[in-house]
Amino acid sequence: MTTSNRSPTPPIVLLATDVWKSYDDGAIAVLRGVNFTGFQGETVALCGPSGCGKSTLLHLLGGLDSPDIGRIAVNSRELKPFGNPLHLLRHEVGFVFQLHNLIPDLTLEENCLIPTVAAGLDRKAARDRLRELTDRTGLSHRLGSKIQKLSGGERQRTALCRALMNKPRILLADEPTGSLDESTSAMVFDLLLEIVANEGVTLVMATHDRTLAARCGRLIEMRDGSIHEPF
Ligand SMILES: Nc1ncnc2c1ncn2[C@@H]1O[C@H](COP(=O)(O)OP(=O)(O)OP(=O)(O)O)[C@@H](O)[C@H]1O
Ligand SMILES: [Mg+2]
Repeated sequence: MTTSNRSPTPPIVLLATDVWKSYDDGAIAVLRGVNFTGFQGETVALCGPSGCGKSTLLHLLGGLDSPDIGRIAVNSRELKPFGNPLHLLRHEVGFVFQLHNLIPDLTLEENCLIPTVAAGLDRKAARDRLRELTDRTGLSHRLGSKIQKLSGGERQRTALCRALMNKPRILLADEPTGSLDESTSAMVFDLLLEIVANEGVTLVMATHDRTLAARCGRLIEMRDGSIHEPF
């Protein structure tokens, strides 16, 4: 029997294999053979110029859209091109959208509870989870406020809470601090890192901010439709 001192490689939770994606009937070729492996518990920054396809890749990894060619697997389950992965993904993947996609006329509490209803979470468990997340993000005093009354930083923190309500093991965050000033951005990002570390969540985050990217465990660059990883 052989023994090894090396720690075992963590399980693969996200896998993109030779993924191609274009828009407008092929006129806009965005992803041209992307390969990506995401390991459990790591934090990955996805960088690259505007329009290079960062949001497109996150949408594919989250099952919000399908590749033209290639395969995506989440927790070792392949997403079928015309399948409906939403039920699976409601429980396993949280998404923070680039434009946060909160419903302005509803309160913070209502926005965060919506995904828990969709996932069939018990009401008490959902409220307890909301209390825990809003305590951690300093939002508990704003539970009854409509989104339109919240500041940019409060909205981004709300979007983070909403994405984490169902305790996903994977968080895909698309410029989660993109619209914030430097100090608010750093504060929201600190919270994000703290929560994913505490809960052992795998984070893949698209960002233009090199300072934030440098604080992730791994940096990948999207260029010319594929991924490059500095070693
Ligand atoms: N639904 C769509 N229909 C047509 N073109 C699209 C669509 N979504 C994205 N695109 C185009 O695909 C390219 C990649 O867009 P994407 O949003 O993935 O880039 P990005 O890297 O996230 O950019 P940014 O940093 O500005 O957010 C862009 O040229 C964009 O205009
Ligand atoms: Mg984008």
